[in-house]
Amino acid sequence: MKKPIGIFDSGVGGLTVYKAIRAAFPEEDLIYFGDTARVPYGPKSPNTIIEYSIQNSRFLLQQGIKILVVACNTSSSVAIPHLQQLTDIPIIGVILPGAEMAAQQTVNQRIGVIGTEGTIRSEAYTSAIKQILPSAQVFSRACPLFVPLVEEGWLSGSTARDIVCEYLRFYQDLDIDTLVLGCTHYPLLKEMIQSVMGESVILVDSAEAITSYLRGLLPPEYDGARGSDRFYVSDNEEKFAALARRILGQELTSLQRVRLFESWFAQ
Ligand code: DGL
Repeated sequence: MKKPIGIFDSGVGGLTVYKAIRAAFPEEDLIYFGDTARVPYGPKSPNTIIEYSIQNSRFLLQQGIKILVVACNTSSSVAIPHLQQLTDIPIIGVILPGAEMAAQQTVNQRIGVIGTEGTIRSEAYTSAIKQILPSAQVFSRACPLFVPLVEEGWLSGSTARDIVCEYLRFYQDLDIDTLVLGCTHYPLLKEMIQSVMGESVILVDSAEAITSYLRGLLPPEYDGARGSDRFYVSDNEEKFAALARRILGQELTSLQRVRLFESWFAQ
């Protein structure tokens, strides 16, 4: 029997990864979990992020997945070794594919990385990029207001532009030629980020980078049958469905709320 690929993120951002995987592998069954009850992960401590990531992964493993995609940079930056202890199936995070793509794209070896506080604090991108390209210079900047902007659906307009300009001013004199969008929410602000950075800066979207990793793990045959999609969230299905419609350009056919943790108050 065909087993699904499991994908999780703290919220809607991982839908950028889902979308890239769905486009590249139309035949695969996909299960997406968005931890909308506990988003954002970015400002939380590493131990909390690890704990949440373990709970999310356990839920997906119970669904009989064959590959786990950690579509959250914040989780990928601290939790992968802990998740590997839960299972023998392949686990793919977003950091390494993004770092490899940045190392391939840069010419002047000056690379910017933007992400959540958790991702930037972990320095996971800096060490991954430097391992691949030791002479690279990496300039990292946390952009904590980008996630709430995306979760609110404010992807354009003057407020979004002001916030994006304020954070990216950091790169004004740094002469980077490549910028890693080190958070799966950020590709939704891609147009705005590109217009602020200018066309000469290459934006690296790890959602795109991750599909080539998956290709190496999946057999190439395709029988023409379209794979199924199942979406789960831990809260606010309506809000998730509305944002998903905007991100994916279609209605979600199967969306359910699940509880991953025990409630302390009586039901
Ligand atoms: N989209 C996630 C990431 O890639 C996390 C955003 C958040 O929950 O703070 O880092």
